[in-house]
Amino acid sequence: MAYQYYLNSGRPQKQEFVTLGGGYHGDTFGTMSVGARSVFHEAFAPLLFDVHTLPQPKVPFADFDRDYKIKEHIAPVLKAYRSLLTSRGDSICALILEPLIQGASAGFNFYPPELLRALYDLSKQYDVLLIADEVFTGSGRTGKFYACEWAGIWPDIMALSKGLSGGTLPFAATLATEEIFQAFYSDDRKTTLFHGHSMTGSPPGCAAALAALDVFEAQNILERVGRLESGHRAHQKRITAGPLGARIREGRVLGSVAVLEFNLEGDYTGEFGWRVMQAALGRGALIRPLGSAVYLTPPYIITADQLAQTYEILEESVIEVLKN
Ligand SMILES: Cc1ncc(COP(=O)(O)O)c(C=O)c1O
Repeated sequence: MAYQYYLNSGRPQKQEFVTLGGGYHGDTFGTMSVGARSVFHEAFAPLLFDVHTLPQPKVPFADFDRDYKIKEHIAPVLKAYRSLLTSRGDSICALILEPLIQGASAGFNFYPPELLRALYDLSKQYDVLLIADEVFTGSGRTGKFYACEWAGIWPDIMALSKGLSGGTLPFAATLATEEIFQAFYSDDRKTTLFHGHSMTGSPPGCAAALAALDVFEAQNILERVGRLESGHRAHQKRITAGPLGARIREGRVLGSVAVLEFNLEGDYTGEFGWRVMQAALGRGALIRPLGSAVYLTPPYIITADQLAQTYEILEESVIEVLKN
């Protein structure tokens, strides 16, 4: 859509993509190409197209509230983007990123809204579209309906799924600004976006999404997510003060998402994640660690007792695995 937007607007030379290092956007060839060449996709590397990859943001969570530190940590990413735009801005059509939380490939790496805002500003300056992949972060996960709201930005294109239908039916939506829409809307059929899928516009999916949005408003879900965030923080504090404390590299929380990163070497192919998952399953919770990060993204309806029980299971399971 981003490429064809420029094609339809008479700027066909804008056809290169930029991605934030460590991103995950899916398993089709296009989305694998703009994603990190992690263990998930490296088998397909020879078949993927080239993109420009910015450094992965590395901001210690403890520095999220410190302006001067944030500037220092995000500088390498901004420097790389600025220099790319200066040399190749005319050929670049879009920057794609997961706003604030880089999930599957990066092991739930968090970066602050300041970086998102700055990447957005630079993109605007060089007429590059910003594609926000809110498939995971959207629908309230981070405490706002869209993670982009934390940065006070609205992207040109946005991908939504997962929570959009409350997880009840498979459903996804790609949103675009009016300006992009208008570039496709013409009597000349060649400007059409000829990309439909078997289930595009599926009426039951749309109905489920509308119903989920009604519940979202009627039950003030964002307030619930705020309570969930406080719960996560309290449990992380307790666990960090306990026997696992010395093994924890960092705890991170944003909205309904909580991550405990352990001091471990190795990637997703390591044994830690699988063993924690099995130990937790035996105790009644389905947890799926990624690399050295054990994360929880509970449904918003989880009760305080259920959350406490989940953290007990998490703690016991990790202790069991690290002991053996
Ligand atoms: C950020 C992000 N983008 C894209 C996807 C892939 O979505 P789909 O499976 O609908 O292609 C995922 C799935 O986990 C995701 O987390």
